[in-house]
Amino acid sequence: MVRKSQSARRSKPLRYPEPPERLGAVDPLEGISLGESALVPLNCVYRDDAHGIFLYQGDCLEVLDAIAAKYPDGCFDMIFADPPYFLSNGGITCYAGRMVKVDKGDWDRSRGAEENHNFNRAWLERCQRVLKPNGTIWVTGTHHVIFSVGFAMQQLGFKILNDIAWEKPNPPPNLSCRYFTHSTETVIWAAKNAKSRHVFNYAAMKAVTGKQMKTVWTIPAPGKAEKIFGKHPTQKPVALVERCLLASTHPGDLVLDPFMGAGTTAVACIRQNRRCVGVEIDRGYVALARERIRQELMYPPNLWR
Ligand SMILES: C[S@@+](CC[C@H](N)C(=O)[O-])C[C@H]1O[C@@H](n2cnc3c(N)ncnc32)[C@H](O)[C@@H]1O
Repeated sequence: MVRKSQSARRSKPLRYPEPPERLGAVDPLEGISLGESALVPLNCVYRDDAHGIFLYQGDCLEVLDAIAAKYPDGCFDMIFADPPYFLSNGGITCYAGRMVKVDKGDWDRSRGAEENHNFNRAWLERCQRVLKPNGTIWVTGTHHVIFSVGFAMQQLGFKILNDIAWEKPNPPPNLSCRYFTHSTETVIWAAKNAKSRHVFNYAAMKAVTGKQMKTVWTIPAPGKAEKIFGKHPTQKPVALVERCLLASTHPGDLVLDPFMGAGTTAVACIRQNRRCVGVEIDRGYVALARERIRQELMYPPNLWR
């Protein structure tokens, strides 16, 4: 009797959870080519298979179409998206104590409310396709873009889980003195659809404050240490992305950032042992992201902090 149950046990294949390092070698864009019709040719500018970090220069709309064709059921556990805010339209702001025009680049110019919304729908629809059934998306933005993002999510059938107010403790003053000082951005957290059974690491979040975490997060804007290789005008703090990762993913999970900018999401993923695919259209920002990622892998901050 004992012998029988032992052999039955032996014949059952043993399953061990894959250590995150061994999962690293999978690049979802492996073998993908966008063809000659692509507006922006896809270019892998950095890959580290052991850590599962892949950085591409390309147009995220085209790249996401190609990924969705290869993975019709989705392949990402989480997406962090910080899309253009469409706010570079001749307004003024305060920079280093001086009054300057808001000009973050051509990519940030408004094309009018309707076109901006069409763009938001277009990339969100593609993100929804490449999310796994239980995957979630985080989208940051100011009032210039976030209402359109929220409406597009409702139109597409995402399930909105929370809207986080990211509070910056030291915002630049409002020089016109005709408005309140802008000191928050919104981060919408949503699941792929109403059926999703999303991940929420409740205990890890509670451990941060000792109480249930609220939807107001006070996190300083990125300081000099996060800008040693150059500046991106809308760079997010690594700590903000790390919190999103810790809330909604497990070690080894695969994360996408379709608007990678200076590579903040990849840096946060390296620190939290998640895998990451980043896409960025601008060659200069891709180079900046690559330097930050290299530095992060060579000199992990926990070695000297
Ligand atoms: C708000 S910034 C992201 C900043 C980033 N979160 C960081 O921390 O550095 C948006 C980025 O999206 C890029 N971008 C705009 N349109 C794009 C597109 N169609 N595909 C890929 N990247 C795009 C811009 O060049 C810009 O760097």
